[in-house]
Amino acid sequence: MHFERAGEKDCDNLAALARSAHSHPWSSIQYHDSLRAGHHCWILRPPEPSVQKHGQILACCVVSRLFDEAEILDVAVAPGCRNLGVGARLLQHIFAQFPEHVARVLLEVRASNRPARALYHKLGFTEDGRRKNYYPKPDGSREDALLMSLVL
Ligand SMILES: CC(C)(COP(=O)(O)OP(=O)(O)OC[C@H]1O[C@@H](n2cnc3c(N)ncnc32)[C@H](O)[C@@H]1OP(=O)(O)O)[C@@H](O)C(=O)NCCC(=O)NCCS
Repeated sequence: MHFERAGEKDCDNLAALARSAHSHPWSSIQYHDSLRAGHHCWILRPPEPSVQKHGQILACCVVSRLFDEAEILDVAVAPGCRNLGVGARLLQHIFAQFPEHVARVLLEVRASNRPARALYHKLGFTEDGRRKNYYPKPDGSREDALLMSLVL
């Protein structure tokens, strides 16, 4: 699997991937803003250029870094590519790129998101806390965020 850094031209396709993956997806503008803020966005494209549909993106992860900590802001794998190890390999690739001084990775995840929680546990993350009623749900109610971290 070849992961690469996304650029501003990828933002519309990142938003398309987000719409297929999240109940409250980032817009193209939010991906633009994130890249302009200096966050790194890693992506996986289809393997053969011949099967790519207008810059289609199969997986992405947005990460911010501040001093010795990194925070995962967004992770998505296209529905047809899930449970194939893509999410795990994408995150492992990103962690391997971190400079030596990055000591800890943080993230927030919906309490109901079992696949994501299982992925993070598999990679060694632990649950450190909970923000009550943090995320909006499609039905108008709210759900807790779990705070997770990984010591590298
Ligand atoms: C969460 C997500 C990124 C996982 O990506 P993925 O490529 O399917 O994950 P992988 O195939 O690498 O799976 C790695 C591990 O995660 C766990 N996992 C993944 N999908 C799972 C599922 N549906 N149910 C239970 N565990 C699951 C398993 O432990 C798996 O390891 P295993 O295959 O050895 O059992 C993907 O489901 C997704 O994009 N979901 C929608 C967006 C989202 O929720 N993003 C996270 C926001 S915090």
